[in-house]
Order: sequence, then structure tokens, then C-alpha cells
Amino acid sequence: MTLWEARMGSGPNDALLKYTSSIEFDRRLADDDIRASIAHVNQLNRAKILSDDETSILVAALKKVKEEISGCTLVYLDTDEDVHTAIERRVTEICGEVGGKLHTGRSRNDQVSTALRLFVKRELSSIGKDALNFAYTLLERAESEVDVEVYLPGYTHLQRAQPVMLAHHLLAHGWALIRDIDRIVSCLKRADVCPLGAGALAGSSLNLDPDGVAVELEFKERFKNSLDAVSDRDYVAESLFVLSMIGIHLSRMGEEVVLWSSQEFNFMVLDDAFSTGSSMLPQKKNPDIAELARGKAGRLIGNLTGFLATLKGLPLSYNRDLQEDKEPLFDAIDQIKRGLIAMTGLYSTATFNHGAMRQAADSASSAAVDIAEWLVERGKPFREAHAIVGSLVRDSIERRVPLPELVATHPELGNEVLELLEPGVAVTRRTTPGGAGPIPVRSQVVEFRQALSSMKALINDLYSSDTRG
Ligand code: ARG
Repeated sequence: MTLWEARMGSGPNDALLKYTSSIEFDRRLADDDIRASIAHVNQLNRAKILSDDETSILVAALKKVKEEISGCTLVYLDTDEDVHTAIERRVTEICGEVGGKLHTGRSRNDQVSTALRLFVKRELSSIGKDALNFAYTLLERAESEVDVEVYLPGYTHLQRAQPVMLAHHLLAHGWALIRDIDRIVSCLKRADVCPLGAGALAGSSLNLDPDGVAVELEFKERFKNSLDAVSDRDYVAESLFVLSMIGIHLSRMGEEVVLWSSQEFNFMVLDDAFSTGSSMLPQKKNPDIAELARGKAGRLIGNLTGFLATLKGLPLSYNRDLQEDKEPLFDAIDQIKRGLIAMTGLYSTATFNHGAMRQAADSASSAAVDIAEWLVERGKPFREAHAIVGSLVRDSIERRVPLPELVATHPELGNEVLELLEPGVAVTRRTTPGGAGPIPVRSQVVEFRQALSSMKALINDLYSSDTRG
């Protein structure tokens, strides 16, 4: 039986039920729905709409349904339409007539968004923690690499540009993760609003207590406008953006792992447990985690843009289109959770090939800007210095003469400059704050650790206010 049976001359067509039902995917909101339903029952009790006995009966039935769901014994019916309807139907089966009072003063429109907000708060906090773990892994790797002073070529346009410390490179990804965590925290601020009490769209004639419900459900505040409360899905769109951004960062790291673990680069060897083989070619060891981190960015962006398109042009207030919020959100959450954990494992177990990195970075031309800056320190305008070194590099390539030889014999340079071209020297000359040399990178490691512990405090704060099931 549907909830609106009395209004219709006939029962629902099968095609309608199949097309409109969300039960297959919104089951994962069951615990959040039950938690919010208990808070709703308590407010009905405070409003004297439910007696103390009725309240206990309903709360006990809701708890029983929760057990049935976790024990997988709840049987969903075709007519259940969504998890909220299924829970109410089952509560009524358990406690009879009083079950008919559960939905007093509430609509699925405020109910569904309340459950989804509880879900988002919990899941995004937990993803924040996973991102934090990944950032700590990068920090640990950076700390050990900075101790052994490993450097590699830094690239622009994927062309070798200047040597950078490996720790600097790893922390570049780490800072991106810190911004991701910061975005989670700020997105959760706006998600932390309780819509229960908005009803279908206009509130209620009953003496409800949305403030008390918000407190009981540990929301920071209650809705201010009932129309907005039932139609606002900004928090879903924002979550999808935050998750897409994490996905894009994972994708960029993934691309790098694919390159670095190739025989051509040979900068990185993946642990066997985080590599795949080939079903045909016995010698293969493949970076599938990294490739999927790259590939899954596509669907994450699709989830975000698809849902933005769903929202665009919706008139106030609730429209059934909004049911389309769940699948992209659930998918994005699942993919990012698994992706963060897999990439953390990959990075914490991989071996960096220090020799290959140093060798690639130690070509004389990677110190070209240092030679130009040596001239600048002696009064030469940078443009002229740039031109002198540029033509030396061209000469060296075209005439196949080693660059150091040309530098040594150039009238404005000479033997004194050769030490700049020695292996490992260029990177040590990057001394400015935030730069890629060992001195600023050591300070950066300290700054990064501090930034991470502030993020940790923020994330733990979210956790402590949101762990009640
Ligand atoms: N399953 C629906 C959703 O997720 C519940 C709301 C249905 N509300 C309605 N008035 N038909 O949005």
C-alpha cells in the first residue's frame, strides 16, 4: 500500500513504482532516518501530541527496525518507494495504530533532507580523516627523503626545468590535500543546518520545536526558511565539488605515478601488493590504482555537473528531481574513500629510485638559470644574461660540445662558473622561502606538520560532534 492510496481511484502502476522508487539506493540512509525519526517523536512528545507511552512504543519500534535493517531481516516491499516509507510502514506493522502518528507534522520533504545532511556530515568527516592520513603519509615520506637530500628534475610543460627536492615535490601534493580538508570543513559548516520542522514546504500548525530537534540531532542550527529548507541541496552540490577536487588531485598524482613507475622514467617502484599483473604478459607489473585514480576523475566530474544540471531551473520548493541527489553523492563518496585509502597504501609502500632521479636532474643545462643569475650578480641585465646562456645551450646541442666546456671558455664566464654545474649544486641554490632547495624545504616540513595538526584538530572536532548513531 502506498502512502497516498486514499487519494487515488486505483493502485499505482508497476511502471510508476519501478521508475520513481529510490529504495534500491537510499537504504543507506536508514540509520540516519531512524535517528531523525526518534528526535521527531521526542518533539511530538514535548508538544503533547504523543503521550509518554506512545513515545516509548514508537522509539522502541524504531530501534527494532534499526536492528532488523542491520541484521538484514527487514523485507522491503515494491510499494515502499523509499527507505523513509519502508521504515514508517514497518514501525506501523510493529506497533499498530500508534505507528500512524509517527509522520505527524513532518513530510518526506524535510525528513529526507534531514537524513541526508546527517549522512553527509558523517561521511565527509570520515573522508576528511582519510585525506588527513594520506597527507601524513606524504609528510613521513617527505621527512625521510629530505634527510637523504634526494632531488629530481622539476618539470614545466613536462620538460625538465630545474632540480627540486623530492620532499618538495611530495609536499606539493600534500598542500593540495590540506586545501581539500579545509574545503571539507567549510562545506560541512553549511551542511550543518537541520531542516526538520519545515514540513512539506511551509512549516506546521502544530506546536513543533525545530530548535530542540536541531539540538538533539547535534546540528549547529535549524533552518530559517521552510521553502529553502526543503529545496536546498547546495550542500550536496558543494560536497560533490569538494569530492571532485579531491578526485582531481588523486588523478594528477595518479598520472605522475604512471609516468614515474614506467621504465622510461624509472623514478618509482611500486610495491607488489599495490601493483597488478597482466593476464597474458608474464613480465608486466602495472600501476592500476594510479590509472583508476586518474580515470575515476571523469565520473566524479560527471556526478558534479550532472547534479548541477538537475538543480538548475527547479522552481521552489521540493521537486521530485531532488531525489537525483543521492546516487551521484553516494558514488562520489564511495570512490573517494576507496581512492584515498588505495593511494595512501601505494605511496607509503613505494620505493623511490634516488639514483635515477638524481641522474635525470644532474644534466648541466638544469643549472642554466644559475649561470644567468651568476652574470646578474655581476651587473648584467637578466635579459642579456638569459640570451648568453640560451645561445650556449643551443651551441652545446647543435655542435655537440658539452656545456661545461663552452662555459669554461666563454669570455664572460670561465672556470669559476663550473662549480654551479656540478651534480647536486643547482638544487642547493634554491634558498628562498617556499623554494625547492634543502634549506627552505626543511622549514616547509615543519610548516606542513603544523598545518596538518591544525587540520587534524578541526576534523577531530567534527568527529566528536557527530559520532552518535
Ligand atoms: N525519495 C524521495 C527523495 O529522495 C522522498 C521525497 C518524496 N517526497 C514527495 N513529496 N514525493 O526525494
